[in-house]
Amino acid sequence: MLRLLAVIACLAKVAIATCPDDPEVDLCETTGEETGSGFRSSPWMALVLPLATARPKVATGLALVLALAVGAEAVTCGELKDFYKSEACCGSPTTVLSNPVPGSPACPYNFNKPACNTAEPQTPRDLSTGATGSMVPKAATLTDAQANFLPLVNVHFHLGAEHKSDAYNNDTDAMAYDAASSGRRLASNPRPGFMCPTDTLTDAQMTPYTFQHCTGDVQVGKSYEVHYVHSSAGTDNDASDGMNADLLADGLGGAANGRGLLNPMVVVQGQIYQIVNGGPTVNDLLHGWTVVGHNNSVMYSGSTTGQSHDNSVCSPYVITWHVDKDCHQVSPESFDNLCKQMKDLYGMSVDLAPHGSRILVSPTYVVQSQYVVPLA
Ligand SMILES: *[C@@H]1O[C@H](CO)[C@@H](O)[C@H](O)[C@H]1NC(C)=O
Ligand SMILES: *[C@@H]1O[C@H](CO)[C@@H](O)[C@H](O)[C@H]1NC(C)=O
Repeated sequence: MLRLLAVIACLAKVAIATCPDDPEVDLCETTGEETGSGFRSSPWMALVLPLATARPKVATGLALVLALAVGAEAVTCGELKDFYKSEACCGSPTTVLSNPVPGSPACPYNFNKPACNTAEPQTPRDLSTGATGSMVPKAATLTDAQANFLPLVNVHFHLGAEHKSDAYNNDTDAMAYDAASSGRRLASNPRPGFMCPTDTLTDAQMTPYTFQHCTGDVQVGKSYEVHYVHSSAGTDNDASDGMNADLLADGLGGAANGRGLLNPMVVVQGQIYQIVNGGPTVNDLLHGWTVVGHNNSVMYSGSTTGQSHDNSVCSPYVITWHVDKDCHQVSPESFDNLCKQMKDLYGMSVDLAPHGSRILVSPTYVVQSQYVVPLA
């Protein structure tokens, strides 16, 4: 709408030649001194008509834009004039408007994050034996087959597991981080999540490795929860390549708003890898959580995660989670190759470093255990 006023201001200069009245003066004069004229009853046309003779196409387009911008609930010239004055625009064309121009449609979306006590069930949920939850999900949980129908739009990983299970439950690093940052987010360091056990690893298995492609805190012995994000807002450009993942990119923009969609269906598959020297080689960690058959995986309804959410500020997105409850050892070379593929095949960069892990969500804000079911 600011642009609309700018257009009006520009057109006003052109209009002066044929229109006897200065629109700036008219918008600012009081009702008593209203200057009447044929054009006056339709100020928009008064501005546009002088242009019509010279460039009919442009003028028609502008008239249409102005008509649409002003909105269907016909705003009167008087209302617009009152608004112009109440915003203290008179004699001050660079003043920034503090209210929407009358007739502007209200945005139906509120992008403030919801408080947890009004949000839908959240993620990461504790998946340990006996862990409880309180909420009943409203959204359906998509199945494995339905997930694979949705294009893969992003792959990223978190330092440690955001989820907690019987297999990954070492919170030593997480507790140290939280104590050091007194609950507040440290800008440069990602918050560690739960780690797979390291006490059984030999010195040889713990030998450090210099990663060539992954950046940030990626180390032998540490665990990472890799998220495979599928969304109906993605696309499969090449159906013949057997890979439903043609638009992989950094971040969650493609999942949340790809192709302008505002209500996509999203499934995230979470697999937890521990980097171990001499660990199993996995040639392609990028195009799916394909290392095992997921016989120890669950599905449930939750939300997006990350360090910007906790137990008071919650995520506004409702998505399906598929999570493998096992730790999977993988060689450092294989994990580094994941980053190499992200970079070389898709030009990704931000997601080559681990993201921080959201603090485990309180049982108050996650689904009841009856809604955490074996992956099917
Ligand atoms: C848990 O993590 C800490 C810190 O990395 C480590 O010293 C400890 O041995 C780990 N415990 C197990 C059971 O792996
Ligand atoms: C899952 O399958 C693997 C073999 O692929 C097996 O070793 C493991 O015990 C199975 N786990 C469960 C929970 O059935």
